[in-house]
Amino acid sequence: MKVLFDALGKQYSSVATEIDEAIRQVLSSGRYILGENVAKFEQEFAGYCGTKHAVGISSGTGALHLALLACDIGDGDEVITAANTYIATLFAISYVGAKPVLVDIDPETYTLDTEQIEEVITEKTRAIMPVHLYGQCADMDAIMQLANRYELKVIEDAAQAHGAEYKGRKAGSIGNVGCFSFYPSKNLGACGDGGAAITDDEKLYEKLKIYRYMGQKSKHSHLVIGRQERLDEIQAAILRIKLGYLDSWNERRHHWAVMYDELLADISVERPREHGYGNHVFHLYVIRVARRDEVKARLLRCGIETQIHYPIPAHLQPAYADLGHAKDSFPITERYSEEILSLPLYPELEEEEVAKVARGLKQVLEQLGRVRR
Ligand SMILES: Cc1ncc(COP(=O)(O)O)c(C=O)c1O
Repeated sequence: MKVLFDALGKQYSSVATEIDEAIRQVLSSGRYILGENVAKFEQEFAGYCGTKHAVGISSGTGALHLALLACDIGDGDEVITAANTYIATLFAISYVGAKPVLVDIDPETYTLDTEQIEEVITEKTRAIMPVHLYGQCADMDAIMQLANRYELKVIEDAAQAHGAEYKGRKAGSIGNVGCFSFYPSKNLGACGDGGAAITDDEKLYEKLKIYRYMGQKSKHSHLVIGRQERLDEIQAAILRIKLGYLDSWNERRHHWAVMYDELLADISVERPREHGYGNHVFHLYVIRVARRDEVKARLLRCGIETQIHYPIPAHLQPAYADLGHAKDSFPITERYSEEILSLPLYPELEEEEVAKVARGLKQVLEQLGRVRR
């Protein structure tokens, strides 16, 4: 038995009848762009997140980009975000001509270390972009306090945190705009690319819609240089169905996370820690382990797939050489990038598979204990 890192085909099978019918209806309607499914999904997703509005966008990266444009962030501005994130967070900041200013992560939650934000605020800082990494929210109270004090916008990167909560509020609903990705393997995933931005702010909502579709409010009137970043009808129809399962799928993820916690309790790996302030939706179950690359290779030989999120921090990528960050600029992010390992975790896993991963990990660590470097 092989344990795969994801099983998107299995998820499709579990809802195939509904999805096939929804796709068929879109195809026969003849309306493929910005029709009733996008409009209804926007209402339903905003309702789920507890915000007034949602705007369907073509990807999570697009959502972040449009959120920055809507907040009038551009050339010469600075946006503070976490050093440990997917590269898209930084790319969106760069697309608008702003500079990503990084801070290291909190060693326990792996999200933005809020203690380090104030020291990098300058006159050019316009926004903070917390990333709710792996399914757990950053400490939003601390971030909102700083944002209020320095009059900064807050754009939440909630691409990995659909349904996660911070003190009873949904991820993405606390700052000025919250951005989501519906990349297929996300907690709420389309069957292709997709994204959304949520907000309570009427002006930002109008601007997000204008930027999403060629800078237009009405046909043939282009108010700003907009983008072509619409969510399409087929993806919206699929997302409407999957949204109905999101809470139960998140509960399954939590269930498997608890099982991993129990099975891995007596071996020398660092397990994820759930902060008391909210609900972790375990987009990823990330452990830290010594000799990570050897552990990963040996697990694969036992038929267990794992991944690394992320092996090379953004500031050490060639694309960001011009930020000028030497090695050791963000010690926690850099150390963790050599130790982190994401174990398979998705709703469709089976008990036997979780047990096999835990057993495999134990065996591999015993083998490595005998084989000195
Ligand atoms: C933290 C984070 N931000 C942004 C994105 C970008 O989303 P997308 O791939 O939909 O453009 C992702 C998706 O992988 C992500 O994990």
